[in-house]
Amino acid sequence: MREKTDFLIIGSGIAGLSFALKAAEYGKVIIITKSDAQESSTSYAQGGIAAVMYTPDTYEKHIRDTIIAGDELNNQEIVKITITESTERIKELVNWGANFDRNDSGLFDLGKEGGHSEYRVLHHKDQTGFEIERALLEKVNKHPNISILEHHFAIELITQHHLGEIVKRGQQDIQCFGAYVLDKRTNMIKTMLAKVTLLATGGAGNVYSNTTNPPIATGDGIAMVFRAKGVIENLEFIQFHPTSLYNPREKPSFLITEALRGFGAILKTIDGEEFMHKYDARLSLAPRDIVARAIDTEMKLSGSDHVYLDCRHLDKDGLLKHFPTIFAKCLSIGIDITRDMIPVVPSAHYTCGGIKVNEWSQTNIQRLYACGECASTGLHGANRLASNSLLEAVVFSHRAALHASESIKDLDHCEDIPNWNAEGMVLNEEMILITQTRKELQEIMSHYVGIVRSNLRLKRALDRLKLLHMETEDLYKRSILSLELCELRNLLNTAFLITNMASERKESRGLHYSLDYPRANSNIDERRFDD
Ligand code: FAD
Ligand code: SIN
Repeated sequence: MREKTDFLIIGSGIAGLSFALKAAEYGKVIIITKSDAQESSTSYAQGGIAAVMYTPDTYEKHIRDTIIAGDELNNQEIVKITITESTERIKELVNWGANFDRNDSGLFDLGKEGGHSEYRVLHHKDQTGFEIERALLEKVNKHPNISILEHHFAIELITQHHLGEIVKRGQQDIQCFGAYVLDKRTNMIKTMLAKVTLLATGGAGNVYSNTTNPPIATGDGIAMVFRAKGVIENLEFIQFHPTSLYNPREKPSFLITEALRGFGAILKTIDGEEFMHKYDARLSLAPRDIVARAIDTEMKLSGSDHVYLDCRHLDKDGLLKHFPTIFAKCLSIGIDITRDMIPVVPSAHYTCGGIKVNEWSQTNIQRLYACGECASTGLHGANRLASNSLLEAVVFSHRAALHASESIKDLDHCEDIPNWNAEGMVLNEEMILITQTRKELQEIMSHYVGIVRSNLRLKRALDRLKLLHMETEDLYKRSILSLELCELRNLLNTAFLITNMASERKESRGLHYSLDYPRANSNIDERRFDD
């Protein structure tokens, strides 16, 4: 089956939906999404969206905080673009119907998170992402030029490769003509032809055993671009959120927002002692890489499998007003956060690198754009500043739409693309071949490519991943495709890229911390060598 559209958008989180609303003014838009439309990391975002709205905050301060958190690996021009365009994009979200909390004077009630020198995080209680997703979906669903196809899974990007040409990595003229898409309800593979394609597929947290990311975050866009011979960068910078709720059987891990630390909550050891003063003068509100490593170190020192976050000294009414979801969630497992400390542990949270794009969100493949978490704009450098990702998504979906709406005028569909050929494929009856490999991959990544790495651990991971990759490619070549098999392949591709890029980085920087390249002046390094 074949379908044609002007703009094909893969993903229905903040990046895909905000691009759709703009692109729809210039042509027909189809959004495909692999689960229900609202199922996305966006819907789970708690803390908020960072932007410069009022004095005493300034663009310069937000720019400086972003670059300090990113360990100066950021693209400074991109940082400047993102921050100086933040105010306009927030106004647009508000016009689209997103409600952010306001104080008694009617001004936005701005929160503070790790690494921010000012209060600048707009939020909707502790459900900011849910509110943004609600507002965007409401608008998208009403737009006559936009259709959403739920439970449609993009398998591969279509390029000249599918016309029988040899496409090489580094080639300048690779073009994307759309995607092959599995309709999960009928098991048919559709050929979806587009003049322009946007990848907005989100992150890859499920490469690890413990993640705050929903199950959809399997690195699909990153893996598809890699296989289409596009450029991927900075994947070694995986952000572990310091405080996910320690509740071992629960997947995904429930996030305890950093905004709670911004509100005054304090990290404590298993014995109830404060420890952040040993690591950073900013204490519990240091940037995430520092806090996550400090927790990892304290857990290893004490042999415990979590630390605590203490809110007991905080104003009860304020806690309930600002963090109702966290209060209710903790209470549901017997923790009253006004009386009990919350057990917390770091979990894989955010993919800082991804598909390399320029200032207009263009990838190195013609007709293909990427924005949101799957893209690497250069904003985050070696570590993302909290609440900068929702912002990045709206800034770059806006820029992608500006560019794509111009370029589409000279483009047409490529009609010669063949349909997907499933001849000779057999039904894979043994799900264990997929589920067990997925678990193995997640364990390898968690043990060897986690918060603290070393050359030896990374080599072990690479050797093991190669074997899993060979076995899975073999299975893929002879099987009728399923979502589970395709996701596994994407997870493996992404895990390999993370590990390979980590092996190539011969320094500790931002989120990539290697025991073989300790940094001068780091308390954490000193503790390691004291061990
Ligand atoms: P997503 O919102 O993840 O959407 C991806 C979409 O792509 C989904 O619709 C998915 O189904 C679809 N998709 C993926 N692969 C395919 C495929 N092969 N075929 C079809 N569809 C596909 N950031 C902040 O700035 N502030 C916060 O407070 C914050 N809190 C967070 C809390 C949690 C628990 C988590 C997990 C993340 C948080 N983040 C936060 C990060 C932020 O939410 C994400 O980076 C951002 O929402 C990503 O948006 P996106 O549109 O790029 O991707
Ligand atoms: C949080 O609320 O702590 C998450 C914020 C983010 O990931 O930016």
